[in-house]
Amino acid sequence: MKFFIDTANIDQIKEAQSLGILDGVTTNPSLMAKEGITGYDNIMNHYKTICDIVDGDVSAEVIAIDFDGMVREGEALAALHPQIVIKLPMIAEGIKACKYFSDKGVKTNVTLVFSAGQALLAAKAGATYVSPFLGRLDDVSTDGLALIEEIRLIYDNYAFETQILSASIRHTMHIIECAKIGSDVMTGPLSAIKGLLNHPLTDIGLAKFLEDYKKGN
Ligand code: G3P
Repeated sequence: MKFFIDTANIDQIKEAQSLGILDGVTTNPSLMAKEGITGYDNIMNHYKTICDIVDGDVSAEVIAIDFDGMVREGEALAALHPQIVIKLPMIAEGIKACKYFSDKGVKTNVTLVFSAGQALLAAKAGATYVSPFLGRLDDVSTDGLALIEEIRLIYDNYAFETQILSASIRHTMHIIECAKIGSDVMTGPLSAIKGLLNHPLTDIGLAKFLEDYKKGN
């Protein structure tokens, strides 16, 4: 399973990259705003900075909600760096733009996916990634992981190559359950990724090893 970090925070991206397990980055307009990145030039420069830090795919979201605007913005984003993936919202115009870009061999990520039907349309449009938001479904008392299972089944039934990018991951168990289901990618905060490191028996065992070593040396 690929590990993407879901942030526009440069320090966190660098820290995840330094672990050696990072496969890419996802961003969205909210995450950019959270870091105080505003204005077209600053946003474009920020994407370039992120691409220079990581080796893998970097999802950059369009703001337009009409086909022509999405194509215009998407082409500018794709021209920025070969690692850029055009992130498009799951609306009719977004699906049209997804088909447009996939026909041209440009990578896409269809975002704000909350149902199996939406994921099916994204795959039909040739999306590279589909982003179901499992945490936000859990927030409204709906089983987000069940959606990932449904999408996995549908994509496997027809050998769709669209990768399931489980998004809106909130904690370590989301990551583990996504791995069990067969999600191709997960994107989550640094806290969830680093949370996978933790086990008290590891800490206790390491302390004992070091203590015993000191006794004999
Ligand atoms: O990748 C999607 C993500 O940014 C949304 O996460 O936690 O705002 O639901 P969240």
